[in-house]
Amino acid sequence: MHAALIVGASRGIGYALVETYLHRGWRVVATARAGRDGALPGLRDAMRDRLEIETLDITRSTEIEALAVRLSGRRFELLLVNAGTKSDETEALADVSTDEFARVMHTNALSPMRVVERFAPLVTPDGTIAVMSSGQGSVANNTSGGREVYRASKAALNSLMRSYAARSAVQARTLLLLAPGWIRTDLGGPDAPFGLEEAIPPLVETIEAQRGRPGLRYLDRFGSDVPW
Ligand SMILES: NC(=O)c1ccc[n+]([C@@H]2O[C@H](COP(=O)([O-])OP(=O)(O)OC[C@H]3O[C@@H](n4cnc5c(N)ncnc54)[C@H](OP(=O)(O)O)[C@@H]3O)[C@@H](O)[C@H]2O)c1
Repeated sequence: MHAALIVGASRGIGYALVETYLHRGWRVVATARAGRDGALPGLRDAMRDRLEIETLDITRSTEIEALAVRLSGRRFELLLVNAGTKSDETEALADVSTDEFARVMHTNALSPMRVVERFAPLVTPDGTIAVMSSGQGSVANNTSGGREVYRASKAALNSLMRSYAARSAVQARTLLLLAPGWIRTDLGGPDAPFGLEEAIPPLVETIEAQRGRPGLRYLDRFGSDVPW
């Protein structure tokens, strides 16, 4: 039975990914911040021994280390780092406080990569490390502007993942940056054109279709390359 470690799974896309992998017969370790595990405990009750819930705030290095110690000796075919935050989309960079800029960069760029670095040894040699980016992280496609800090954080994430991939080129792992599309969640908002039920199945199909293909790709949920 395959095992996945899904980071940032209390709600939204992360929770839907946990449900989907469980329904595909996987074992899942799902993480949530302390006291914020949402519907995960109910899902664990339904799935019995196939879902474990762990506590992790990705911005806290001590929690990353503690979880890595708790999971040492475990092996996962998939590490999927989904956790992310938005910024006030109406704010242009000139109006954003230094603290807010740092918060979004810390959560969306630095912290996911710290999770990748620390948990990569738990991923099987031919396994997959996937990180939830966004189409908004594409520098090439940014012709409309808007959401400037969020865009910058995902572009920074993409750049850091490319550096990680270049440094890890001898490894056979599949590395993915995922652009799921604009989806109705707390982050995506009510005006997003797609619901989780239509967006998550093709996203998971895309992740699984890449299994065993070494190297880094930046893909939308249908498996098409997103311009960097
Ligand atoms: N929805 C979209 O349209 C869309 C489009 C492109 C990319 N994405 C990306 O997809 C990912 C999930 O987004 P979503 O739409 O599902 O958003 P969401 O409903 O707001 O969920 C965000 C998830 O990230 C977790 N999280 C936030 N900060 C965290 C931290 N410091 N440590 C651990 N977990 C943390 C949240 O946990 P809490 O419950 O504890 O806050 C929650 O589980 C994000 O990376 C987002 O940028 C979303």
